[in-house]
Amino acid sequence: MRKQIAAANWKMNLGYQQGEKLLDEILGADIRLGLSQKVLFAVPFPYLIMTRSEVEDETNYEVAAQNCHHQRSGAFTGEISCEMLHSLAVNYCIIGHSERREYFNESNQQLAEKVNLCFEYFITPIFCCGEPLAVREAGHQDQFVAKQLQESLFHLPAEKVKNIIIAYEPIWAIGTGKTATTAQAQEMHAHLRSTMEQKYGKAVADEISILYGGSVKSSNAKELFGCPDVDGGLVGGASLNSIEFIEIIKALKRSAKV
Ligand code: PGA
Repeated sequence: MRKQIAAANWKMNLGYQQGEKLLDEILGADIRLGLSQKVLFAVPFPYLIMTRSEVEDETNYEVAAQNCHHQRSGAFTGEISCEMLHSLAVNYCIIGHSERREYFNESNQQLAEKVNLCFEYFITPIFCCGEPLAVREAGHQDQFVAKQLQESLFHLPAEKVKNIIIAYEPIWAIGTGKTATTAQAQEMHAHLRSTMEQKYGKAVADEISILYGGSVKSSNAKELFGCPDVDGGLVGGASLNSIEFIEIIKALKRSAKV
């Protein structure tokens, strides 16, 4: 059965002590998740070890990185490699967030290289895709996201790709307070799954968790997570508030699909 996941994306927010306090509050709520459910904390690099030890004794709570470099190692001052993440026992990494695509010019080709290195170092990529507002308004969102999958993932063999996590994040909904409607989310998630199915077959497509991201909050999480092809959320702003994120974890727990 595919996993349901609530992933917190802290982005470049919070001081170290604030981060520690936030984790203590969230973990203190002691929400026991189902076997195939997970909470991930994608924290800034300097907080990875602290977060890893915070979640060490928790079942189904894990740490994630927000990015990695697309080359193995070398003279890339300030960058972080998959090998480094692996050596810290970090098993998840966000790849190709729209902010990285936009502000750091990450291309689909570069993201394919990142995905390859992740798999080489036993890191599960949380691969982000999603269209800008102009593309949605022109009605071309389906082709746009399919191309992102084709160019960054379709070189992978089925036994690898079935382990990937996809996050659909319409750019117009990120940090804007504007969420896709449940119908829009479900429709796009079904399209993403069928794009994977056309290439890899139904069994593989059914294994892949597809998360929704873009202004997920406690008030809309239940409805979004209830969609048949929405397997959880990638949460930015609302993951910085313990009360909000605890409610989102509870919504995930309640949405268990049997
Ligand atoms: P948001 O961010 O929840 O603040 O919209 C989501 C994301 O960018 O991962």
